[in-house]
Amino acid sequence: MNSSPFTLSGVHYRSITPDDVPAFYDVMMNAGMDGRAETWNGTTPDDLRATLFAPDCGGYLAVDRDGRAVGCVGYRPHGNHTLVLYRLATRPEARGRGVGRQLMNEAEGMANREGYGRLMLPISQFNLGVIPFYEHLGYRQVDEPYPFLKEGRPAPVVMVKEFKSHNEDSE
Ligand SMILES: CC(C)(COP(=O)(O)OP(=O)(O)OC[C@H]1O[C@@H](n2cnc3c(N)ncnc32)[C@H](O)[C@@H]1OP(=O)(O)O)[C@@H](O)C(=O)NCCC(=O)NCCS
Repeated sequence: MNSSPFTLSGVHYRSITPDDVPAFYDVMMNAGMDGRAETWNGTTPDDLRATLFAPDCGGYLAVDRDGRAVGCVGYRPHGNHTLVLYRLATRPEARGRGVGRQLMNEAEGMANREGYGRLMLPISQFNLGVIPFYEHLGYRQVDEPYPFLKEGRPAPVVMVKEFKSHNEDSE
């Protein structure tokens, strides 16, 4: 399994399996998301299972030393070049310890290894306070539609981060 060693904060990061859906869902639903963010709050465990385990999709869990899930993030490809990250959440009591950042690192590392050139994130119009967090991690807002927008739902803010090309690296 694709996983990282325990970090100094005692949290382990690993790829999800289908058995992790209840824990993933529990972290999401306890994240304190604004009640108006329908796409997030209306998600069911079955929805999660269907999107997290579709071809080329997946996610990561952050697990503490007691085996309790304290953070989650999912990913799904959009074409061959873009990997969309979604449902990033950490338990309120686990915040400010680098768990959210490390979950993003896990997903970004995988995207890089798999040859995706950029990451994309949807941000609910009711969760704009999280934008500085993503800017801090190198994402920027773009004016492009979210490819997985469901009919009738408000369009999210879209942020992206592009990997440096080999040409840029050699400059
Ligand atoms: C957003 C969230 C995942 C951050 O998780 P976290 O574990 O507290 O994040 P980290 O501790 O890894 O923070 C990494 C850095 O971002 C900063 N940061 C965290 N939240 C921030 C915010 N809302 N605005 C600006 N910076 C923020 C931290 O201070 C830290 O900075 P540092 O690198 O200088 O130390 C968490 O607050 C959460 O689950 N929120 C509710 C769900 C949510 O909004 N998810 C995003 C859906 S798009």
